[in-house]
Amino acid sequence: MTTTTTQIKQGKTGIFDRIESQVRSYSRSFPKLFGKAKGATIYGHDGREYIDFLAGCSSLNYGHNDPDMQAALIDYVTSDGIAHGLDMFTEAKEGFLLAYERLILRPRNMDYKLMFTGPTGANAVEAALKLARKVTGRTNVIAFTNGFHGMTLGALAATGNAGKREGGGTPLNGVHRAPFEGYFGPEVDTADMLEQMLDDPSGGVDAPAAILVEPVQGEGGLNAASGAWLKKIEKIAKKHGALFILDDIQAGCGRTGTFFSFEEFGLDPDIITQAKSLSGMGLPFALTLIKPEHDIWKPAEHNGTFRGNNHAFVTARVALEKFWSDDSFSKSIAKKSAHLETRLGAIAERYGFSLRGRGMMQGIDTQDGDTAGDICAKCFEKGLIIETSGGHDEVVKVLCPLTIDMDLFDKGLDIIEDAFEAILAKDSPRVAAE
Ligand SMILES: Cc1ncc(COP(=O)(O)O)c(C=O)c1O
Repeated sequence: MTTTTTQIKQGKTGIFDRIESQVRSYSRSFPKLFGKAKGATIYGHDGREYIDFLAGCSSLNYGHNDPDMQAALIDYVTSDGIAHGLDMFTEAKEGFLLAYERLILRPRNMDYKLMFTGPTGANAVEAALKLARKVTGRTNVIAFTNGFHGMTLGALAATGNAGKREGGGTPLNGVHRAPFEGYFGPEVDTADMLEQMLDDPSGGVDAPAAILVEPVQGEGGLNAASGAWLKKIEKIAKKHGALFILDDIQAGCGRTGTFFSFEEFGLDPDIITQAKSLSGMGLPFALTLIKPEHDIWKPAEHNGTFRGNNHAFVTARVALEKFWSDDSFSKSIAKKSAHLETRLGAIAERYGFSLRGRGMMQGIDTQDGDTAGDICAKCFEKGLIIETSGGHDEVVKVLCPLTIDMDLFDKGLDIIEDAFEAILAKDSPRVAAE
């Protein structure tokens, strides 16, 4: 390690290396001290600008420090708005619930109760699994290969990745792993396979309390399930008396173009989990949506000190009002998604790679973790923050803010193109033409 890198890694004071736990990870991929951020740009302590194609792992779909959310939050804080209220009724919560009902539930004809869990996605998943087990009186949960649902033990049991699972340090029980769509290639219908196993009294799969699935697997390599496959899974869940749970924590809040990532498929999940971009500006905030007939919790049966973050209620309400009052945001995401597909598609084709994902969560499968890691490291050198995804970290994954302007979007995509060229040493037509 060079002296310069060491200094950057340690920040100005060396405090990170001195007392922060080794568990940190993103700071290893992006060894820089950051101070400010606006829109799709993050600023280093030295003033260097970085384009953000990570967006807090899809927690910053509306960009950093949206001015309207920022203003509403500042106003709320300086006027002594309640910061912490356990799960008591507050004006901030009322404002969010009214906006969610008016702008999200009613227009989609959705009938759900909103359960505010602890503030991370894993909390929302834990609540969903606990409730499904309580409703059905069963313990087994079916989750999928390459699925990622969080790091607490219940959610971790449903997560596929071996490295993450080992960190649990205890047997992770109560989950049957089923193959996600396409896991054995296009010829094998994994939904039919699951159905056959469940139908067969000797299939070895215990009657499930729930089937838990991500419509687009974010951490597991940007595997986008088709509507037809999800519909089959939903039907299997209903047929076998299991709750159908969609984990929309990473793919939701506009990431694929609509507020929920599965809207176009006509699904009717029993439970939906949301977190990440729900607060609008990166504040911790999670939600478990429950069909009213399943809302059988006893008061405080699933508790927690930080359920319902009042500051997040304020910013989330502004996010809903600003971006989801009409379809203009969705249309702009669709346009950007098509552009992303064209540009990534051209790079993928040049190197014989394939495209993964859907909407504004697409990436290139380089088939090799080292290659994808080197490409992301090269991007960082050139001023772009971007990460890998997949079982072998083999996918270069674009997750930029959905509000990014087209010039900056293209600038970031140019950096990706140049990084592929630098690492794979093939001439890029764009660079050659310049
Ligand atoms: C689909 C999905 N579910 C759950 C989680 C866990 O969320 P959190 O990290 O906020 O606990 C994640 C995080 O990446 C996720 O992508």
